[in-house]
Amino acid sequence: MGKITIAIDGYSSTGKSTIAKELAKSLNYVYVDTGAMYRAITLFAIENNCIVDHEIDFKKLIGLLPKAKLKFQFNDELGFSEMFLNGKNVEKEIRSMRVSKEVSKISVIPEVREKLVNMQREMGNSKGIVMDGRDIGTIVFPNAELKIFMTASPDIRASRRYKELISRGENVEFEEVLKNVRERDYIDSNRASSPLVKAQDAILFDNSDMGLKEQFERIHYYALQVIDKNKKNA
Ligand code: DC
Repeated sequence: MGKITIAIDGYSSTGKSTIAKELAKSLNYVYVDTGAMYRAITLFAIENNCIVDHEIDFKKLIGLLPKAKLKFQFNDELGFSEMFLNGKNVEKEIRSMRVSKEVSKISVIPEVREKLVNMQREMGNSKGIVMDGRDIGTIVFPNAELKIFMTASPDIRASRRYKELISRGENVEFEEVLKNVRERDYIDSNRASSPLVKAQDAILFDNSDMGLKEQFERIHYYALQVIDKNKKNA
């Protein structure tokens, strides 16, 4: 009883998923990483030759979309869900630069958004969910009880993403990562379909100078306050 919907939106590499995952764990809520869904469709497009020389064959991809079956499967050992595309664990592949470079272009396609937003709404039907993405508080769950909009400077975000990629063994240059962060900011914020904007009732959360512990404590506190209020009003 009293379970709420928590929407965490914001720019890429602001650490949304780290905080969202931890928050879901501490509240015993389900966590959904919607970026993983857009990344999986991007991988699907690459694997089915719908992206050639960075050009998208929209007609082909839209025709093939019903064949892209996405599923989150909880991994007990890791303590979070992993993304499966047509039965294959693609968790590692969808985080690669190969996918990051194309994902913003795939996520502007209205048919892709419609398919994924429908899935997301279904997953959140029974509340008790922490979902992170770009349009969760504005489009997917405009009535979410708690909305957070995360931001940080592009340099800080690129350096966080660079460290993550290097630790995973990817051979990348910092400048390339920074360029990708800026490009994604631009495309995500300027696309016609569900652009990245802060919902009016979202809490603006700039974590440029904040460690993970402080971020978690603050957001956890907001969540407990809203859950408490929700219980009293029930
Ligand atoms: O959160 P992320 O960096 O893994 O997201 C990858 C891309 O997917 C991002 O550039 C924009 C897109 N995306 C989106 O358009 N809507 C969402 N709800 C989540 C992600």
